[in-house]
This record gives sequence, C-alpha cells and structure tokens, in this order.
Amino acid sequence: MIISPLYRQVVTKNPNFLSCYRSYSSKAISEFGAKDNQYVRTSTNLFREDLDWNSFVKFLVNHFVDKDRVMIYSMACSDGSEAYSLAIFLMEKFSKSLCKKFFPIMAHDVDDLIINSAKSERINIEDCEIYYINKLGINLNKYFVNPKRPLKIKNDMTSYNNVGLFSYEPIQELKQSVEFKKSDILTELNKIKDNGNSVVMCRNVMPYLKEDYIDEIVSVASKVLKDGSFFVTGDYDSTIKIGERLEKSGFYRPLLENQNLFQKGNSKEMIDRLLYGYLI
Ligand SMILES: C[S@@+](CC[C@H](N)C(=O)[O-])C[C@H]1O[C@@H](n2cnc3c(N)ncnc32)[C@H](O)[C@@H]1O
Repeated sequence: MIISPLYRQVVTKNPNFLSCYRSYSSKAISEFGAKDNQYVRTSTNLFREDLDWNSFVKFLVNHFVDKDRVMIYSMACSDGSEAYSLAIFLMEKFSKSLCKKFFPIMAHDVDDLIINSAKSERINIEDCEIYYINKLGINLNKYFVNPKRPLKIKNDMTSYNNVGLFSYEPIQELKQSVEFKKSDILTELNKIKDNGNSVVMCRNVMPYLKEDYIDEIVSVASKVLKDGSFFVTGDYDSTIKIGERLEKSGFYRPLLENQNLFQKGNSKEMIDRLLYGYLI
C-alpha cells in the first residue's frame, strides 16, 4: 500500500490549516500489514490537527483527578511527535506537580529507523509546521534547543520535497516526559495492567495493518482496559471504521465533539450513574 501525496488534503478538516506532514518510509511494518515487503509512506507532525490538544488534556486532567498515576501509551509513535505534543500541552496548561502523574509517556514504534531517530533525542520540524505551532500559541523555544548535530533520518521522505527542515533537541524536562522503545502495538497492549487509569493512543496507523491484526488490537484493548480508560484513534483510522468496531467491543464516545476519543464502559450505565447515582 502506497499512500498518495493527496492523503495530506484528505485528512485535513480545517481548510485554513496549512497542513504539513513529515513523511517516512517504513519497511519494517510489512510484517504486520503491507504486502510483499513494500515500503509504506507514513506521516506525522507535531500537534496533528485531528485532535483538539487543548480540550483533550483538560478533559484528561479532569477525568483522572482521583488517580495518582495515569499511564499514557503512544503506540506507533513514529518520530515522537505525538508524545511530545501531549507532553507539551500538559506542561503548557498545568503545573509541574500535576503533570508528574502523566509522565513518562510510554512511546513505541516497530520501525527501527523511526524509533532510533526518536531515541536520539532529536526531532526534525518543517518550516510550515513552525508557523502552525506559533499560531497555536506555543513557543517552540520554550521546549526545544538547537542540537549539537542535525538529525539525519535515512528514510525521511520529507526532505525530497525541498522543504525547510530543522533539527531540534527537547529540553531535559521534555526528554524526561517520554520513554521510547522499539515494540509493536499488540505486544505492548497485552502487557497493560490497567486500573481504569490508561490512555492508549493508537492513531493513524490501523489502515496500514492486516485485518486480523486490527481485530486483535480491538479485542485485546477491550480485554485489558477497564472502565474509565481510553482508546484514542486518528482521522485516518476512521477510513477502516474503527469507531464502529470499538463501539461493538465495549467502548463509547464520551464527547460528541471528539469523534476520535473512546472510553471503555457502557454509556447507558454511565449516564444512569450520573443521573441517578446519588439516589441508589
Ligand atoms: C502514520 S504514522 C502515525 C504516527 C502518529 N501516531 C500520528 O498519528 O502522527 C504510523 C506509524 O506506525 C508505525 N507502525 C506500523 N505498524 C506498527 C505496529 N504493528 N506496531 C507499532 N508501530 C507500527 C509505523 O512505523 C509508523 O511510524
């Protein structure tokens, strides 16, 4: 499966958003999806716009107010953009002491080149992405410094487009907020010992995977996650009707305005508890 460059336009909901994704070719994932060892072009960016990061972090903080530790998993984390986006928004909006219970975020990817770039504690950011980040009101210099050496990723396809690509090194506090490891989604899902305090981000990866692997992800997620925990998808995943599959397996959408957020549990039961709980 080769993703056409049109993909950029397809996933962009906001016509005013200057969409720019960094693309990497990934061969390792052929084991789980793409046929015949084909290279697959996968994309990511900081603060990917299929999630409203601001309301997402506020919702999480509110929801997990009684928990001492919240386990966040960035499955299929690519170069680290997703985990850093979440960590930065948490740090931007909440105090150090409150953020502590969300860190470190556990981030995994199966592709050697991509996960090694994340582990190098550097990230490449495009010039149009920097423009977008500024518009979100985030000061990049608060979270990143210039690295000693620029990051060169062998399978980076972004540079073919002649875009301005700049290397950044996260500040110590941001580095400590994420732990990167090479692993695949199912292996990590199976290890989760949940206590209703987990957030599994499994975003924009499922259309690359084989059908039985996707079914297994949904089934294991439904088994290991307890009521109150979350499974978060991306806009690209909706192309394989992942929402419907999750809803058939014990998840529901707690927020109408966020179609990519799924909570484990029965929505009717939750509503009854909210409405009548104090009477029972
Ligand atoms: C399109 S990127 C998504 C990155 C990020 N989650 C986002 O939404 O921006 C897909 C990533 O999934 C990784 N991947 C593919 N199959 C995987 C698997 N079975 N387990 C873990 N990672 C996988 C690829 O290497 C690639 O980095």
